Amino acid sequence: MSASSPTPTLTRADYISADVFELERRRIFHGGWFFVGHVASIPAGSSRVLDVAGEQVIVTCTRAGQFHAFANACRHRGAMLVDPTDPTVVAPECGAASIQCPYHAWTYGLDGRLLATPRVDRDDVDRDATGLWAYRADVWNGLVFVSLAHDVAPLREWLVESNPALVGFEHLAIADMALVQRTASSAAANWKIVVENYQECLHCPVVHPELVEVIPHYRTGEVVDAARPDGAVEFLNGANSYMQASTGAAELPLLPGVAPSDEGVYNGTSVFPNLFFDLTASGLVLTTLFPVDPDRTLIVGEYLFAPEVAASSEYDPTDEIAFNELIGAQDIAVCERVQRGVASRAFTTGILTTKDDAVVDFDRQYRSAMDPLAHPFQIT
Ligand code: FES
Ligand SMILES: [Fe+2]
Repeated sequence: MSASSPTPTLTRADYISADVFELERRRIFHGGWFFVGHVASIPAGSSRVLDVAGEQVIVTCTRAGQFHAFANACRHRGAMLVDPTDPTVVAPECGAASIQCPYHAWTYGLDGRLLATPRVDRDDVDRDATGLWAYRADVWNGLVFVSLAHDVAPLREWLVESNPALVGFEHLAIADMALVQRTASSAAANWKIVVENYQECLHCPVVHPELVEVIPHYRTGEVVDAARPDGAVEFLNGANSYMQASTGAAELPLLPGVAPSDEGVYNGTSVFPNLFFDLTASGLVLTTLFPVDPDRTLIVGEYLFAPEVAASSEYDPTDEIAFNELIGAQDIAVCERVQRGVASRAFTTGILTTKDDAVVDFDRQYRSAMDPLAHPFQIT
């Protein structure tokens, strides 16, 4: 029997072209919801400035706990209001009630209202009509998203449509988890290469020798265990963490909200377009992709554990975090090799095999999101 014709990967241009990246900014990153962080990364009374594919966005949380998103530009003469936040800072300083422009000191509340225009007559400016330019911000189960588009569906509705696997984790109490560490890495690779690498495990026995030791199913090259209905894969010895499986380290407390079916396994999903959601019963890792250029992606890791882990020196998640960072560094190294390879004039498209079926799923979702018919109000 002859082999069925292989499915092609995305094209060379999809991975390297500035024109494609510009369309992605409009149709995907600025056209839908974009994950920005766990709620604890922006505590009440603070703000964080993020780069959403070239657009600087101030995300605030008011003292009353309401999240907002604004353009990082002053309504007076357009000065950048706030310097970008260091991505490795776990949570910015709390307590700032306002944002003051460094140019002429116009001052805005964390809800975007213009509060003060020093040395300018009050009648000169209609303060009520001159709040910060607002984008949308919303929270699902402790995860903060922003949208630069105003015609996008409400967040939960959009998640059900675009990322039903994430909604399957609704039983977790993610907002109650403790954000212990944020890490940042820069990958010289297109964001889609990073996602496609996440979607398959054919590379695991080659690239991740430590990982296949603790999750033996990954030796098969399959990213999920077809024998399980939930998409999870079992840890060696039914462990609840990488360290427990690899060194027999003491068990960390279980995360708030985990179900018995979450124990002894790793489960995860990529959330289109820019989040990897990786769950063990004792730790949740949120990996956010911030596309910078066609060949550059900032990767931010957020490490969440049970509140007891943050509150007591009895627990030390350092090795658990280091294990995840090791796997992440191994992934970045191969993604950078792919970026260099697909830039070759010889590369037109690659080949996706049966065990790459989750890559095929991502590519299909990507092509559909890039379809101009899905964006009837955009000119191109
Ligand atoms: S530009 Fe911001 S106060 Fe003038
Ligand atoms: Fe990997």
